[in-house]
Amino acid sequence: MNSLQHNLNIVFIGGGNMGQALVTGLLDSGWPADNIAVVDNDHAMTIKLKEKFPHCHVYSQSEAALNLADVVVLAVKPQVIQTACEQIAAQCQIKRPLIISIAAGILINSIDHWLGGELPIIRSMPNTPALVQAGVTGLYATEEVSAEQHEIAEKILCSVGDVCWLDDEALLDVVTALSGSGPAYFFYLIEAMIEAGKSLGLSETQARELTVATAAGAAKLIKQSGKSAQDLRLAVTSKGGTTEAAINTLQEHEMKKIIDTAISKAAEKSKLLANTK
Ligand SMILES: NC(=O)c1ccc[n+]([C@@H]2O[C@H](COP(=O)([O-])OP(=O)(O)OC[C@H]3O[C@@H](n4cnc5c(N)ncnc54)[C@H](OP(=O)(O)O)[C@@H]3O)[C@@H](O)[C@H]2O)c1
Repeated sequence: MNSLQHNLNIVFIGGGNMGQALVTGLLDSGWPADNIAVVDNDHAMTIKLKEKFPHCHVYSQSEAALNLADVVVLAVKPQVIQTACEQIAAQCQIKRPLIISIAAGILINSIDHWLGGELPIIRSMPNTPALVQAGVTGLYATEEVSAEQHEIAEKILCSVGDVCWLDDEALLDVVTALSGSGPAYFFYLIEAMIEAGKSLGLSETQARELTVATAAGAAKLIKQSGKSAQDLRLAVTSKGGTTEAAINTLQEHEMKKIIDTAISKAAEKSKLLANTK
């Protein structure tokens, strides 16, 4: 971490699941606790946050926190983000921090409008494995965001996994469909594999252990080897073997087409939801 980033104050508006995941990631990556503040309007949550992050600043109202903010992370639910933005707009216009929104489907134009206009804003789409620091986040920045602010946002989101920059905000709908909703697709496959293992005689525990370790191992192998998914698949598909028997069945049922249709539907839905908020 360079010395400039080291001294930056980050304020989280919303200290729920994602806010906590990001604070945990930042602390683990060496961000000083004294430079992190979390604002949550739920009193019970502020007690929990103080216990979990005793060296960070925790507030139930944003005023004190925002006085020192260099970066504001909007980590509230989409349905309350307008109110949250309007509560902090006046102070943001004075301090002009970098704004990073993680709210699903909320367009930058809306955030900009609610915050009073012309602030540097980054919109992002993380996914649930961020909760165990193994997420991936799609990011899009407006022209007002400087190169240094790009780096800062990357540092923050990298603390909970990988990042992928986009040059078109509309592509966040695809990110939502691919990696945002993606963990559920893998859970569905895992669920189906466990059920298949059980129907063939394994216990629930055995089937789960074998399937989950296989999923984690396959993900690690493709990441570390840098090889394509197709190459790795072909490498374990011997002619006339067991893998081929399974893959042939998936191909007969047009599995790739089903996945393509499913992800296209999710992207369409994301676009529709974003345009109705
Ligand atoms: N969870 C995920 O996997 C995931 C993945 C990608 C993106 N996201 C995005 O991440 C955002 C946060 O999700 P989450 O699951 O962390 O939500 P969450 O657990 O509900 O946390 C949000 C917290 O913010 C508080 N809050 C609401 N309005 C506030 C305000 N004006 N000022 C300060 N605090 C306020 C909420 O309190 P109350 O409960 O009292 O309202 C709640 O404690 C969402 O926009 C979601 O779309 C989440």
